[in-house]
Amino acid sequence: MTPTRADFPPGFLFGTATSAYQIEGTGGAGPCHWDSFAATPGNVAGAADGRRACGHLDRYAEDLDLVAAAGFDIYRFSTSWARVLPEGAGAPDPEGLDFYDRLVDATLARGLKPALTLYHWELPSPLADRGGWTNRDTALRFGDFAALMAERLGDRVWSWATLNEPWCAAWLGHFAGVHAPGLRDIRATARAMHHLALGHGVGLAALRAGGVGQIGIVLNFEPAFPADRGEAVRAATLRYDAVFNRFFLGGVARGAYPELALEGLGPHLPRGWQADLDAIGAPIDWLGVNYYTVKRITHAPGPWPNWAEVPGPGRKTDMGWEIAPMALPDLLRWISGSHTGDLPLYVTENGMAAPDTPVAGETGPEIHDEDRIAFLSSHLAAAREAIAEGVPLKGYIVWSLLDNFEWAFGYGKRFGLVHVDFESLQRTPKASYHALKRMLEDRRP
Ligand code: FCB
Repeated sequence: MTPTRADFPPGFLFGTATSAYQIEGTGGAGPCHWDSFAATPGNVAGAADGRRACGHLDRYAEDLDLVAAAGFDIYRFSTSWARVLPEGAGAPDPEGLDFYDRLVDATLARGLKPALTLYHWELPSPLADRGGWTNRDTALRFGDFAALMAERLGDRVWSWATLNEPWCAAWLGHFAGVHAPGLRDIRATARAMHHLALGHGVGLAALRAGGVGQIGIVLNFEPAFPADRGEAVRAATLRYDAVFNRFFLGGVARGAYPELALEGLGPHLPRGWQADLDAIGAPIDWLGVNYYTVKRITHAPGPWPNWAEVPGPGRKTDMGWEIAPMALPDLLRWISGSHTGDLPLYVTENGMAAPDTPVAGETGPEIHDEDRIAFLSSHLAAAREAIAEGVPLKGYIVWSLLDNFEWAFGYGKRFGLVHVDFESLQRTPKASYHALKRMLEDRRP
């Protein structure tokens, strides 16, 4: 696999990522809105849910061994709010806190840097009952959760992210209806967008007050291209870009939401939202960039936002996502050039889904995911190009360590470097895992 570790600047960090709900299994956690979303017929492929997932709760030591044996520097994981605070607020569950305590210790014991994301989408049901992210109070409760975690783990965690991909939580959950809580309502969407941004701001302040450093947020980006040269298509593409790529980035990096997003969302935002922008735009220490694909946009009739996605010309992954490594350097250059300046950037997720059918090898099952090796190689080369052009990119994290519960797609979409047999829960490192291991060993001067 090329490039190798030796092709990156000294100190450049490599990692792999997971998230709580996708791998842990619910165990003793309190109920969350993904549990009820998954329990509602038609929402998740194969009627799958997160009850067992990868059984990581009991197998975390084995999973961390895999991260360490590959030679990664960072392990990015998330904490389930519902496991720590089953009511969403009030008394923590000591067992939930103890689990993350053990997880962080076990990460450190293997020489890995624990990169913690506080919220990767499993909102406690008691908060969902009160309107979830459409309710401002959820953002304040998130601050309490952040404070609690800082108090318990602040002495050991290497980096903190408030939220993972708030766009997905807000838009897919409240506008497209394909993620929990499954709404399709623009007013709910606007409120969720703003309250998630506020949750970041409140969480950030709580983490700072708790004395921890290295605080950031993880945002997802999809560079958008017009499907043709028509004026309406161009305008639709700019609107898409404003909502998808610039809403949270603008809030966090500039303390301002883009005008083109406000055209549609503004009338539905909660009264006085402008007063929250200072908290939302307070300084962070790094920004996480999740990058998977690009989008081709056309104009669509009907109410705002008048856009529709059309398939692009490039090859697609098992998700149907177009493979576009060449858009990554431009994206990183644009983020730093227009919004974040010298702020350290990390690619916090990048990877692909593939069928990854095991075949019988001499010593057991083997997974020949050559397409994933090619995908990762081309994106690593793109990351290297961005660095060569002066982008302050400090690390690259692969999604994901394990095949897992891929949200509305259930267990059918495999993103892991390690294959998981969802019957036996057996882990089998794929060819991409072995290739990354070899590439990380290469420290040639
Ligand atoms: C990202 C999510 C992650 C996973 C990957 C494929 O949007 O952060 O949980 O679903 O996509």
